[in-house]
Amino acid sequence: MDLKKYMGLLAFVSIIFSNAVQAEGDIETGHALSSQCSSCHGLYGLSSNEQFPDIAGQKQSYLAEQLKNYQLRLRDNLTMQTIADSLSNQDIQDLAAYYASTSPVAQFDLATRILVVPFLSVANDMYKVQLHLDSIFPVSLRLTSVENR
Ligand code: HEC
Repeated sequence: MDLKKYMGLLAFVSIIFSNAVQAEGDIETGHALSSQCSSCHGLYGLSSNEQFPDIAGQKQSYLAEQLKNYQLRLRDNLTMQTIADSLSNQDIQDLAAYYASTSPVAQFDLATRILVVPFLSVANDMYKVQLHLDSIFPVSLRLTSVENR
């Protein structure tokens, strides 16, 4: 393959790759952007107010679609329409990726015997904890990691 063709292919591949990355959304960036949402939707998308829906752990594509629907006025709500108007497509993907990652559901992996509790509230602090099930009878759980949220 000559160099020109090679460079062309490389450019093509990198365009596909950057689009894929863009469509995926970046959790960390979404986390930073979520500071403008937490006054209503709560930290991590868990709202303590009846007026505002929980969005934590919702499907990424659903979240992104709702935000686009507000922008396009396919969904009616002045507050969210105004907020969605200020978001770029990339912001939407990043926010959707972030909130999709904040599922409050604890997960137990049978193979590794690791229990992940994504949100454990202690006093006013929030933690992500991991425990290992050392024994079933009698139940013995060992704390393997604690992360301050
Ligand atoms: C001033 C309060 C407020 C703020 C700030 C806010 N929202 Fe909302 N959000 C709402 C309300 C109220 C609804 C329900 C609107 C409706 O009935 O469609 C909603 C709905 C949503 C929905 C649809 C949920 C569903 O289950 O369909 C998404 C997604 C969403 N908000 C994301 C965000 C994001 C992301 C941000 C930050 C960029 C944000 N919101 C900031 C009040 C707010």
